[in-house]
Formats: sequence, C-alpha cells, structure tokens
Amino acid sequence: MEIREVAVVGLGTMGAGIAEVFARSGIGVVAIEVDQDALTRGLGILDASLARAVSRGRLSQAEQDEIRGRIRPAPGFSAAAGVDLAIEVVPERIEIKRQIFAELDRVCSPDAILATNTSSLSVTSVAAASQHPHRVVGMHFFNPAPVMRLVEVVSTVLTADGLAAAVADLARRLGKTPVQVGDRAGFVANALLLPYLNHAVTLLETGYATRDDIDAAATAGIGLPMGPLALLDLIGLDTSLSILEVLHGEFGGSRYVPAPLLRRLVAAGRTGRKSGQGIYQYPAADTPQDGNALAEPGPSTVTLIGPGGAQEAELASAAAAAGVNITRNPAHPSDLVVIAATPDQRVLPAAIETGRAADAVGLHVAAPGLAEIVTTRASSAASVATAGALAAGLGLRAVGAPDRPGFLVGALLYPHLADAIRMVQDGYAAAADVDTAMMLGCGYPQGPFQLLDKAGAQAVLDGLRAMHAAYGDPAFAPPPLLAEQVTVAAGLPG
Ligand code: 3HC
Repeated sequence: MEIREVAVVGLGTMGAGIAEVFARSGIGVVAIEVDQDALTRGLGILDASLARAVSRGRLSQAEQDEIRGRIRPAPGFSAAAGVDLAIEVVPERIEIKRQIFAELDRVCSPDAILATNTSSLSVTSVAAASQHPHRVVGMHFFNPAPVMRLVEVVSTVLTADGLAAAVADLARRLGKTPVQVGDRAGFVANALLLPYLNHAVTLLETGYATRDDIDAAATAGIGLPMGPLALLDLIGLDTSLSILEVLHGEFGGSRYVPAPLLRRLVAAGRTGRKSGQGIYQYPAADTPQDGNALAEPGPSTVTLIGPGGAQEAELASAAAAAGVNITRNPAHPSDLVVIAATPDQRVLPAAIETGRAADAVGLHVAAPGLAEIVTTRASSAASVATAGALAAGLGLRAVGAPDRPGFLVGALLYPHLADAIRMVQDGYAAAADVDTAMMLGCGYPQGPFQLLDKAGAQAVLDGLRAMHAAYGDPAFAPPPLLAEQVTVAAGLPG
C-alpha cells in the first residue's frame, strides 16, 4: 500500500523525532497536538534536531527547508482526514490513547492504518479502543528516533493479515530495520533493556558500586554506547518506571520490581534529561575530579597470586613492562597483594590464605582497558587506593566492585544475557532478531547472543550459577537453554 501522508499525534521528544523521520523520507506529515502551545513546543524540538544536522553538515539548508515544508502543523484531528497512516505518540495512559483512537476512527478513511508507538501498554488493549481493530498495529521507534534504526512492528491477534508486513515495508522505506513481533509486554528491546537498567539502579542504591563505575562497566566493560544510568536519563525515569510496572504485571519476578530509588527520583520530579536532572545533572555539573588514582603513588613491588592462566600472565607482563616488581611469595615484602580474580570465584579465601588480607585486593581485567578492583571485607582502604594507582600505571580504567559473584561487569551482563536467552527459550523471538533489536534499537555494537559468544557460554553459566547460589534469586538461575548450549558445545568435536 502506498503511504503518501501520515499523521503524527503527539509531538513530544519521540513524536517530533518520528515526524522528522517520515518527512526526511519524503512522506507528508500532519503534525497534531492538543493546542497551539504544545504544537509550537513540538516543532521547536523538530527544528532543533534539523538545525543540529545542518550544523554538522549532514543536511543542507535547502534539504532542511524541504523537510520542514512536508510538515503541516494542525491543532486538531480533522487535518488527519486524508492520511494513509496515523501514529499516536502520546503519554502512556490508556484513556488518552483510547480517546485518540476514537477520534482517528472518526476522521480517518476506513483504509488508513492506525499505529501506536506505545512502549508499555498492550497493543491489543489500544486496538480494542478502535472500531476497526484489524487495522491497528504497534510501530515502536527508539530514542532518538532519527538515529536509532530499529522499528518493532507489533501485531495482535486482531491485526489483519499482511498489515504487519506492509508496515515493515514502510519502516524499511524510512531507512529503518523492522523486527516483527507479537504483542507481549516490552516487546523485544524494552523487555530486555529495562530490567538491566533497573538492576543498575539497584546496584547504585545498595552501594554496590558508584554511578560512574556502573556506567563505565557498561561502556568500557561491555562496549555499550551509554552506561545504564545515563541511558535511563535519556529515556526518562518516569517512562522507564511505567514500562517496568507493566513488565512486572506481565512477568512478575524481581528483575522488574522498580528499584525504590527510581520511584523516589520520579516522585521528586527528577525524570532525566528532559527535567534537567535525573541520575545525572544537565548540563553536567562541574564535579571536582577525583584525583585519588593519580595522587596515590603506584606500588613498586606487587605480590601476584592467582590460579595461573592467561589473565594472570598478562597482568604479570603488563606490570613488569610498567616497571613494577612482581613477587609470588606473600611472605616477601611488597606494597600490595593482587589476587588475579575470576567473577565466579570469591577473592576473600585466597586473600586470607596469603596471611595479608588487609593488603590484598582482587583484580580482574574484564575487557581490554578495563580493570575491576575487587574489594573484600578485609581489604584496607590504602590497598584499594594503591590498586587504583597500579591500574592507572598499567593504562587501565579501574572500576570498583565488591567481592561478589560477577563483580561489576558480570553482575550487569550475565542476568541481561540470561533474560535474552529466556526470551528465545520462551519462543517469543529468534536469537537473530534479539541481536538485531538490541543493536539497532539500543546501539549495541554486538547483540546479546554475540556478547554471549564473546564472554563464553561456560563463563556466563558459571557466573550465573555463582550469582544464583549467592542470592537465591530465581532471576539469576541459568536458563536451561544456556546449560544445553554449553553441554552441546562440550560434546561436539572441535
Ligand atoms: N536527535 C537527533 N539526532 C541525534 C540526537 C537526538 N536527540 N542525539 C544524537 N543525534 C545524532 C547526532 O546528530 C549524530 O549524528 P551525525 O553522526 O549524523 O552527526 C549521531 O546521532 C551521533 O551523536 P553524537 O555523536 O552526539 O553522540 P554519540 O555518538 O554519543 O551517540 C547516541 C549518541 C546515538 C544516543 C548513542 O549514545 C546511543 O546509541 N545510545 C543508546 C541509545 C538507546 O539505547 N536508545 C534506546 C532507548 S530505549 C527506547 O527508546 C524505547 C522506549 O520505548 C523507551
């Protein structure tokens, strides 16, 4: 079906971005808002985005004018009479969506497609508000809409045959990649992203790690474009909270219970970038640099203890190259005892065995360039600071983690991968679609299944088992599919 003109109802950040995406692809846009003020605000967002593209040399002034010329602002629904598709991008409240769908039913031609960009409500419940639920689909874009390439196309049991495929074609015409899914809370991307973000808030709230270390663990440790706490601010803490509530309602389980801190921040109006303050402040506050790692003198002699293996050997040679003396005997004098640590093993028993537990920390190079400094109950503050200086001397970004399974990178990553594996195990999405969704919707350089391969299925299984044994939370129990994959891999030749 030919789509020449669309209506975008609601010009908040997402709506303005979606209107821009359609207009950039040569499609006329009727931009609808409740009143003139809201319309002016929404067009301001859109104009700022286009101006940014012009200033970066991505768009010429003439192209900007052409795109802008395709957008017809309208403070009311009647302008949507002739459109081929109308998409609502309004707050996630079912009564508002119902009202909009009733209006669209009234003004739009019976052939027009009605789409919802809902991220948390069920598309079926939105469709049920239409007189013609067979023409309703979910068309879920990602923030920032002009940049993120994924569109989740969601069909319900009521959706007409072929409609999802037609909307997927439209998404391709917009330069996006569609993933077609059924109507389940969070679809693919949000159902995986939100529990991971929520867990990051729990780690912050419980003092497991600092804000900056949590975000650095995700960016430098996993390779994600943004840390989870910065991403929460981008999405909006209020939006994130409401998605979590829906996920919790549908799936139950601790991963979806919103962290109390998230609720408090939303209640305090600290909803993220849009309110100027969330977990971070916008624009960034001038925080004094924590010069600890630089101020602390690096160790001249380090006792290195470990199970052997590549990590320990690399640590030893990097330390030697940086001019640090290495001894293996804890009885020899040294400035620091470093236990080469793995995320499924506790550091403390090895530290106690050295007889110098206060001098000992764990060190785990979680990714090239990123060291987790693992503090046990016995580690002294001085040894933690010396370990920071050692990491800096080796050119590693250090993040602090307690001596708990997964340390910091694994604590974020392993349950996230388990969620992805469970989604495939449940038959909701294929692994390739999960990877596509997270790469194109959330900017992951590799999808969860590629990350699983990179981390090693056995290591992830061991990490999850250790987390499950430590906390008893069923969310950390390794999914059977993961254990099967490890068994198959072990049993196959080569
Ligand atoms: N609007 C328009 N364009 C934007 C933009 C915005 N808000 N933010 C960034 N851009 C553009 C820039 O103009 C730039 O374009 P160019 O390369 O053509 O010049 C490009 O994006 C890259 O921007 P920057 O160089 O400023 O910044 P980064 O390289 O750091 O990338 C990012 C920014 C694209 C936001 C990247 O950090 C990223 O991919 N983050 C993950 C975002 C994510 O996960 N989104 C999904 C959230 S979940 C969701 O939306 C679902 C909902 O239901 C909750």
